[in-house]
Amino acid sequence: MVKICCIGAGYVGGPTMAVIALKCPSNQVIVVDISVPRITAWNSDQLPIYEPGLEDVVKQCRGKNLFFSTDVEQHVAESDIIFVSVNTPTKTRGLGAGKAADLTYWESAARLIADVSKSNKIVVEKSTVPVKTAEAIEKILTHNSKGINFQILSNPEFLAEGTAIQDLLNPDRVLIGGRETPEGQKAIKVLKGVYAQWVPEDRIITTNLWSAELSKLAANAFLAQRISSVNSMSALCEATGADVTQVAHAVGKDTRIGPRFLNASVGFGGSCFQKDILNLVYICECNGLPEVANYWKQVIEVNDYQKNRFVNRVVSSMFNTVSGKKIAILGFAFKKDTGDTRETPAIDVCKGLLGDNAHLSIFDPQVNEDQIQRDISMKKFDWDHPRHLQPSSPTSVKQVSVVWDAYEATKNAHAVCILTEWDEFKKLDYQRIYDNMQKPAFVFDGRNIVDVEKLRKIGFIVYCIGKPLDQWLKDMPAVA
Ligand code: UDX
Ligand code: ADP
Repeated sequence: MVKICCIGAGYVGGPTMAVIALKCPSNQVIVVDISVPRITAWNSDQLPIYEPGLEDVVKQCRGKNLFFSTDVEQHVAESDIIFVSVNTPTKTRGLGAGKAADLTYWESAARLIADVSKSNKIVVEKSTVPVKTAEAIEKILTHNSKGINFQILSNPEFLAEGTAIQDLLNPDRVLIGGRETPEGQKAIKVLKGVYAQWVPEDRIITTNLWSAELSKLAANAFLAQRISSVNSMSALCEATGADVTQVAHAVGKDTRIGPRFLNASVGFGGSCFQKDILNLVYICECNGLPEVANYWKQVIEVNDYQKNRFVNRVVSSMFNTVSGKKIAILGFAFKKDTGDTRETPAIDVCKGLLGDNAHLSIFDPQVNEDQIQRDISMKKFDWDHPRHLQPSSPTSVKQVSVVWDAYEATKNAHAVCILTEWDEFKKLDYQRIYDNMQKPAFVFDGRNIVDVEKLRKIGFIVYCIGKPLDQWLKDMPAVA
C-alpha cells in the first residue's frame, strides 16, 4: 500500500487529498499542518473551507483512509509520497520584494522531510512555485539525505475554487513533471498510478520538471490575461455605447478563442492569478527578458485600473463625494461559491471608497466579520502567511459594519455595490431594497448579474461594467 502524506491542509491540500482518498481506497492519505485550529476544523463538522461537495467527500473517507493530523514529523517519516502544499507568499522585503515568491515555508518543509526521513521518498510540489524551485528543493534534500533517495516531482494543481471537487474528479488534465533519469521516470510512474485510478490515461501529461512548473504559471497568466483583455474592452464599450457582453459573446463564438473566461468584472482576484503573474514577471526579468516581463505586467495593471475605474464610477456618479454616505457592499469573496477573500477585488474597492470617507455596510453569505476587518486593514501580501504568523487581529475599521443580510446592508444606503456574483443576489427583492434606500438610489453592478431594465423601471440609477451607460452617468468622468 502506498502511503500518501500532504504537508499543508489549505484550499489545495485539503480538497485534493480528500478526492485522492475517495478514488484510491487502498491508499492511506494523511493531511498534516502546523496549524492546530485548521486540523481541528478538518476533523470536525465545520470544515475550515467552504467548497461545494467537499463535506460529502470528507465524510465518506475521514477515519477510513483519510486522516488529518498535526503530527507532521511522524507522518512524513512514514509516507512514500509527500505532497507539499504550503504557503508561498510574495516577498515583501529584500531581493525581488513585491514580485518574487518567498519560499521560507517550502524550504522549512523540505528540511523537515530531510531530517525525519528514514526511507526513500517521492516529494511532490503542489503549491505553485517559481520555475526551478524543484532544483533548489532537490539540493536541500540530497545534501541532507543520509543515503536516502529523494525524487522530486512537480504536479501543479489546476482546480478552481467553488468547483474544486468537480475539477478534481474530472480534470482537463493532470500534469506530472520529473527528472529524465530512470529514477525520475520511475517516480512519475508511481504518481501516475495514483491518478490513473480515476483519470483517463490520455489526460495525464508527463513532462520534465521545468515544463511542469512553468505550465502552471503560464496557464494562470493566460486565464488572467483573458479577463484583463475583456475588462479593457469594457472601458471602451462604456465610452462608445457598445455592450461588452455582446462583444464577448461574438468574440467567444470563434472556436479558436472559445466562450469561457470572458466575463467582464470589477477585476479578478484569488490567491493565484496576481501572485503567479508577479512571479512570472520576476523570472523574466531575472532571465534578461524585460519585454516579456512588461507584457505580463500589463495584465495586472489593467486589473488594478479596472478596480480604480469602478471606484471612480461610484464616487463621480454620487455628486463626486461619498463622504458620510452609507454604501452597501454585496459580496466580498473573490468569486461565488467560496468563502475565500484572498486578493478579492472587494478589498481594493472598499479601501477606495473608505478613502473618500464612505460608510460601508458589507454582506457576504460566506465571509465573516473578522475576516473582512482583517482584509481591509491588512498590508498587501500579508494574507499569504500561515494564519498564526499573520498580524494579530487588527482594530476594526470604524466606518465598516458587517451584517448578515442583504436587506439590512442596503437599508438607508445611498448606493449598492455588487462585488461577488452570488446567485442569491440575482433573486433579491430589489423593489423592497429601493423602497428602503436614500434617493436617488444607485446600483453599481461589478459582476453584471442584475436585470438592468427591471432595476431602472423601479427607479434605480444603474451602472454595469461595460454596458451602455445610464443617462445619469453619461456626463460623469470615468477616470479620475
Ligand atoms: C484559478 C485557476 O482557474 C485555477 O486553474 C488555478 O488552479 C488557480 O487559479 P481560482 O482563482 O480558484 O482558480 O478561480 P477562477 O475561477 O480562475 O477565478 C479567478 C478570478 O477571476 C475570480 O475573481 C473571478 O471572479 C474572476 N473571473 C473569472 C472574471 O472576472 N471573469 C471571468 O470570466 C472568469
Ligand atoms: P493553498 O491555497 O495553496 O492551499 P493555504 O494558505 O490555504 O494555501 O494553505 C497552506 C497551509 O500550509 C496552511 O494551512 C499552513 O498552516 C500550512 N503550512 C505552512 N507551512 C507549513 C509547514 N512547514 N508544515 C506544515 N504545514 C505548513
